[in-house]
Amino acid sequence: MQAPRQYHNIALVGFMGVGKSTVGQILASMLDFEFIDTDRVIEAREGRRISEIFAKEGEGHFRNLETGLIREYETRQRLVLSTGGGLVVRPENLESLRTHALVVCLWASPSVIHERVRHQGHRPLLSTPDPLARIHELLEQRKPAYQQADILVGVDFRSPQETALYIAASFRRVRHGG
Ligand code: S3P
Repeated sequence: MQAPRQYHNIALVGFMGVGKSTVGQILASMLDFEFIDTDRVIEAREGRRISEIFAKEGEGHFRNLETGLIREYETRQRLVLSTGGGLVVRPENLESLRTHALVVCLWASPSVIHERVRHQGHRPLLSTPDPLARIHELLEQRKPAYQQADILVGVDFRSPQETALYIAASFRRVRHGG
């Protein structure tokens, strides 16, 4: 028999630009949890931007940093973790999150994502001549991984505040077994 899940933390997963960091910060303050953004932790530890890590060592190296980091949270409590958009593509990362967190995927349509990211230049995977096509392609590839989250929340028509409230209510329900 499988051990029952432990819901000490909340992990936000999902594509670039869906609002994981904004929602995560609101959620953390609602629950009085600590907010952690894996991209920012990696940048602080490496002392450079993710775009530089991609350019110098390649995506594989960045993915290894993510995998190493995510394991560190398995023994922590009262965290809202905002994860990089590609983190759950490695099955072991999703497995790690599932040992301690409610895994929530924020989902947006390609056009909404494109609108949100098109004025931001810091995402190496979208630095292409046709970012919208790339968004479609990556979303399609990653859909099976995102769909393994415990909860999928559509954000096209929800404000970050509404999304955070919805997640907080779901978290309270699963924690109290309701
Ligand atoms: C990535 C998403 C980014 C960052 C890196 C790669 C991805 O994080 O981890 O640029 O593979 O989707 P955000 O989802 O916070 O933009």
